[in-house]
Amino acid sequence: MTEILKIDPLYPDPKMIQKAAQIIRTGGLVAFPTETVYGLGANAFNSQAVQRIFLAKGRPANDPLIVHIQNKTWLDQVIIAQSPQAELLVNRFWPGPLTLIFPRKPDIPLNVTAGGEHVAVRAPSHPVAQALLAASGLPIAAPSANRFGHTSPTQASHVLDDLSGRIDLVLDGGECPIGLESTVLDLTQDPPVILRPGGITREEIERVIGSVRLAAKNKIGTGQESMPSPGLLDRHYSPHSTLILIENTTGNREIAIKKILEQISQTRKEEQKSVGILTVDEETHHFESFLQLEVISLGSLNDLQEIGRNLFAGMRTLEQAGVEVILTTDFGEHGLGLAIRDRLRRAASHIIQV
Ligand code: TXA
Ligand code: MG
Repeated sequence: MTEILKIDPLYPDPKMIQKAAQIIRTGGLVAFPTETVYGLGANAFNSQAVQRIFLAKGRPANDPLIVHIQNKTWLDQVIIAQSPQAELLVNRFWPGPLTLIFPRKPDIPLNVTAGGEHVAVRAPSHPVAQALLAASGLPIAAPSANRFGHTSPTQASHVLDDLSGRIDLVLDGGECPIGLESTVLDLTQDPPVILRPGGITREEIERVIGSVRLAAKNKIGTGQESMPSPGLLDRHYSPHSTLILIENTTGNREIAIKKILEQISQTRKEEQKSVGILTVDEETHHFESFLQLEVISLGSLNDLQEIGRNLFAGMRTLEQAGVEVILTTDFGEHGLGLAIRDRLRRAASHIIQV
């Protein structure tokens, strides 16, 4: 049985937090909101508890977990060394959606790091995550709280859809304010490498530590190079519907929309499949004349934060509506555009560049 506690996201009830912390301390699994997506947490020092995460998610053992800590003063519990660059980034962006890779302290069990000598660490800013860390007094290993391969959860209902009956408790703190996972930055390489673009943008990072590289996968126009991190698998964020991404390489929205309109007819007429569209406020009018077309706006074209916040929920809504094919475009590579494109690429079974 999975218990659900509705909790105030800004002023979490200490009794509910104590209950959740007790589950963490005794080796159980708690799903909790972070500012990015819901995490599925377990005591990071307890390899059996960590093993339960892999089982609940159906996650392969070669995909390492992020260890969550309350703040930088906890770092020496989980890592053995930090660089001056790490210190600058931690001071600037923690607590927040930035995950850094460090040499692992032996206290961190090897199933957390998938057998590797490096551990990914972040301090989440969400008040519920902060309160849970403080009350449990333990670093919490937490991947996104979805079944492996499915879209990350940004609402408690998403967690329950995937994991009900498989975990002990869900703290329902409403919608996650960022809605895209943290940026994963590998500082053990020089120059540092963004393994996964996310809530903290490349530009923000470069203002603090200078140039960073992008893992090959995230560069536009590249093929399917082998992944430096096993978690950076293709199709990592797939909705159950087939997603076709019209990748907008020129920034010309008209060309992308024209391609989507073409694909709508082709998919419906030739393949006889139902279609859903993920679009933006400024472009919904292009799709108004179609009958039986599910159209979801992710927000305004001028507000990438809004688009990012609504992206995963939009995919899940179309999937639940039973749509067979989802058509969408990306929104450039500046700021959060990079993370949005990355998630769309991973979700896509087919990418058409225009
Ligand atoms: O925003 C987030 O990061 C959320 C919330 C819950 O904190 N967590 C999350 O965890 O997205 P997960 O497990 O779904 O994604 C973690 C990513 C994976 O791509 C994994 O491969 C990578 O981080 N990662 C974890 N440990 C690593 C390591 N030691 N070296 C390289 N990559 C690592
Ligand atoms: Mg995940």
